[in-house]
Amino acid sequence: MSRKILVTNALPYANGDIHLGHLVGYIQGDIWVRYQRMRGSTVHYVCADDTHGTPIMLRAEKEGITPETLIGRVHGEHLRDFTDFGVAFDNYHSTHSPENRAYAEEVYKRLTAAKLIETRSIEQFYDPVKEMFLPDRFIKGECPKCAAADQYGDNCEVCGAAYAPTELKNPYSAVSGAKPVLKTSEHFFFRLSDPRAVAFLREWTRGTNAAGTRRLQAEAANKMKEWLGEDGQEGENTLSDWDISRDAPYFGFEIPGAPGKYFYVWLDAPIGYLASFRNLADKRGDIVVDDFVDAARAEAAGTEMVHFIGKDILYFHALFWPAMLQFAGLRTPSQLCVNGFLTVDGAKMSKSRGTFITARSYVTQGLNPEWLRYYFATKSNGTMEDVDLNLDDLIAKVNSDLVGKYVNIASRCAGFITKRFDGKLAASDAAATAAFKAAHEAGTIAQAYEERDYSRALREIMHLADLANQYVNDRKPWELAKQEGREADLHVVCSTALTLFRDLTLYLKPVLPALAAKVETFLAIAPLGWQGEWQPLQAGHVVNIYAHLMTRVERKQIDALLEANRDSLAPAPAAAAADAKAATSQQRHAEKQQHAAQTAETASPHISIDDFTKVDLRIAKIVAAEHVEGADKLIRLQLDIGEDKPRQVFAGIKSAYDPASLVGRMTVMVANLAPRKMKFGLSEGMVLAASDPDGKTGGLYVLSPDAGATAGMRVK
Ligand code: MSP
Ligand code: ZN
Repeated sequence: MSRKILVTNALPYANGDIHLGHLVGYIQGDIWVRYQRMRGSTVHYVCADDTHGTPIMLRAEKEGITPETLIGRVHGEHLRDFTDFGVAFDNYHSTHSPENRAYAEEVYKRLTAAKLIETRSIEQFYDPVKEMFLPDRFIKGECPKCAAADQYGDNCEVCGAAYAPTELKNPYSAVSGAKPVLKTSEHFFFRLSDPRAVAFLREWTRGTNAAGTRRLQAEAANKMKEWLGEDGQEGENTLSDWDISRDAPYFGFEIPGAPGKYFYVWLDAPIGYLASFRNLADKRGDIVVDDFVDAARAEAAGTEMVHFIGKDILYFHALFWPAMLQFAGLRTPSQLCVNGFLTVDGAKMSKSRGTFITARSYVTQGLNPEWLRYYFATKSNGTMEDVDLNLDDLIAKVNSDLVGKYVNIASRCAGFITKRFDGKLAASDAAATAAFKAAHEAGTIAQAYEERDYSRALREIMHLADLANQYVNDRKPWELAKQEGREADLHVVCSTALTLFRDLTLYLKPVLPALAAKVETFLAIAPLGWQGEWQPLQAGHVVNIYAHLMTRVERKQIDALLEANRDSLAPAPAAAAADAKAATSQQRHAEKQQHAAQTAETASPHISIDDFTKVDLRIAKIVAAEHVEGADKLIRLQLDIGEDKPRQVFAGIKSAYDPASLVGRMTVMVANLAPRKMKFGLSEGMVLAASDPDGKTGGLYVLSPDAGATAGMRVK
């Protein structure tokens, strides 16, 4: 069955360069699109720049240009980067476009008609010098928890605490430096707390699409469950309404009938998917937009809409976006494909180490974009797990798999076909191709692509490459070529090897489109597709002269790349990326754990022993434990570590422990953590507990020493 799919990738912000982190999701999307097309499906693949919002407005101002000029320039840069990495959108549009304004206004109008828009006055920080309201990320001050200076208005990068900007001590505007004042203004809210919205989202996030595929990966669905709660369960899990307006000055679309009020960038950003698609359809003339966009028409036409996004923007795509679409009478997404974040050599990308690598620098340094496509594909398994770019591993994989195994097959056999047989093939050896034919019919590689488990697909492909090499090694064409009377054998062996090579190329084509195109030229065959019955290359078929297909990666090229990206004056790499996002309180809620985890990472993958010994770990005896009134996660512990009086520590372990069961136990505490003033009293340390990083199992396990350890012993 041929599918009709609208595929999108997240729209990158129009104020920053594309870097290798971005490329993880774009390459995953592009591979899937290419695979679907090879299966005969109709795919429209669109993206755009995300152009609105305060950061872009301020950035343009700083550069002394208009926002329009800025986004025009960046649009060209982004499109060139994607093109160079083989990410081949059918259309790369902009959210600052007439199509997007029209869709945004229409959606807003329909949500209003559905009684899901409400106005409300709210108090917010206002910069009296710059005369503008300040997004949380543009307010700085001292952390209310640990008193660290110069922290953002939404969370502290030192202690990881999340809070409202009004809780900051000595707040100042990051734009003008002025002390912000509280000012009231009318805002528009999308009423997500409406029972219709909550009920819809509970069903939607858990369900499957028309094809029976889960709309969300298991991990994403679990996250949603945390945010949405269960039916009939009230309390902290009900959704809050979403603030969709911003006051002038703002770079965006003015809200119809509300002068001086603008749509918040995250309202019109996902609508940009539809706008880009509409713009494509207008250019092409053969696409019926409403068959993909209107709820009833899309259902009747059996079309799909699939979004590729990174895990940091799941919240917007799994809650706000489907709800907006649903209550505007538009089709909801068939599937969200969420990717994890990129780390380089095990650590967050860092400007000082040169691992904050821009797409442009990679290309200008002369590295082959398909090396990176291949490597990312070997690391992509269709889950939200983070992806590590290990540079030595990239070199090893490309050199051993692609050059050593795959290309090697053609390079060892092609010359004989040209020199000895005028480029003409003999019939392939059926016994030798049987495994390939069987693999083709089993379809497991195809299925792995479908499930976006590219890592599994490539493992199977490399297994076939091993078989092909085995065949060539066993038959030794270079020896046959020297032996009298073995001409016919030589011909069959080389022809068979090229059929196997053709198959490997077919399987690798979604990942390596440029390489596959070169092979199609060399083999003089029509573009490889994934349909129909398996057939060997036919006897008598004439191939072209073999030209070298791919070079090996060298460590010195990688070192030069790192050098080119190293910024010796670089501040913490988080700042630039974080600045781009003016987080709402809801996003903050969703992201705070992730953010805290990210910022907690050190700049280097290793710490010295001195770093470790700075942490004063002590054996502690729990002498008292009790519930804390008004705190749903905390237990108040009194810990004896051999000091005059026990330390008080608030531990977030209530979900897993009954206080009574803890009294008398030995555990391990961090004794030299700066004391922290909490609503409930002073916390003077931290106890150590193990937990699953994603909180999937929800389990928490407090550490215990072996018998014999006594209170106050140092742990090293
Ligand atoms: N403009 C929003 C998306 C709006 S979609 C309607 C945005 N832009 S972004 O430029 O910050 O990110 C673009 C995409 O790249 C997102 O899917 C994001 O998750 C992804 N990534 C950005 N940095 C990344 C890594 N370091 N690693 C993996 N993906 C990353 O968010
Ligand atoms: Zn802090």
